[in-house]
Amino acid sequence: MTIIASAPGKVILFGEHAVVHGSHAVAAALSSLRVFARLEPRSDNRVRIELLDLGVWWEDETSALGITRARGEAPEPPPSSKKPNGRALELARRLEAPLVAVAYLCAELCDAEGATLAVKSGGLPAGAGLGSSAAVAVACAAALCVGATGALRKDVANAWAFAAEVVQHGRPSGLDNALSCYGGGVVAVRRGAGLERNTLEIPPLKLLITNTRVARSTKELVAKVAAEFEAAPGPVRRLFDAIDTIALDFASACRENRVATPFVARLVRLNHALLRALGASHPALEAVADMATEAGAPATKLTGAGGGGCAITLLHDAEGIEIADDKVRRLVQKLRRRGFDCYQTDL
Ligand code: MEV
Repeated sequence: MTIIASAPGKVILFGEHAVVHGSHAVAAALSSLRVFARLEPRSDNRVRIELLDLGVWWEDETSALGITRARGEAPEPPPSSKKPNGRALELARRLEAPLVAVAYLCAELCDAEGATLAVKSGGLPAGAGLGSSAAVAVACAAALCVGATGALRKDVANAWAFAAEVVQHGRPSGLDNALSCYGGGVVAVRRGAGLERNTLEIPPLKLLITNTRVARSTKELVAKVAAEFEAAPGPVRRLFDAIDTIALDFASACRENRVATPFVARLVRLNHALLRALGASHPALEAVADMATEAGAPATKLTGAGGGGCAITLLHDAEGIEIADDKVRRLVQKLRRRGFDCYQTDL
């Protein structure tokens, strides 16, 4: 039986990077930007992985990934603290970078009779801060879990997706895979003892997501911020605390039904300034902020790991009034002329 699973990307409103160090974050799944995984069981003891958008594939005997589990046997429960090792991981590491996490999941969840796992983006741009790697991991983990056990257990798929994120990013917070797996509205999460998710109801906010198309690596950016923290723990802890306060203030305002758009705009600007101080911005992201401000939308921040990738702009002016459609169109044209991609969305 062919199994198709899909998982959405995400947008972080507040709290990226600080969430890796124990702070809260507020984020939402982007249900219209997704990744699809198609699993076809086979019986020739071979495993094939295809990343269709990248034209990258890999195929070998299941034994090359160390797969020994027979069809119908449930996979081991996902490890709580992930320290991947062994032959499968070694092999996965030698594959091209985007294949690593998928190969790792295959090695852990595939059965010995083999399978073909194909991954395709449904509009979600890769490596842009919108959670594409987590969406790939969640879609693949979901398909492989159903393939292995005949049923979807989101907690299991999420735990395996987190394990894949560890393989790919080193020290993820688990925010991206949790958002992609459980979807829903906006949640506040915190690392540490575990990821606590609270659904928040927020009033409609119009957002423009701009992909600068400047390539960057989440792993490197997370390591860069961690190095700043190590070099200057006192001041950097205070930056994390300020970001934590922003996420918590926004969450409280949502819970108490008092989200005023100018207040959100202020939080967006402050959060971006703090991320810039952490070294997570990029000239292209600053250019987006300047162009949006010129167009009358003064609140832009990077979203995701930064260093390029995506920015979000609140399509509201300083008084909270929605920016008129023709002004938004002109801004989008200007951003596209600069080589950026734009997606308009509501939260
Ligand atoms: C990446 O989308 C968000 C970061 O906070 C990393 C993470 O939470 O794992 C930069």
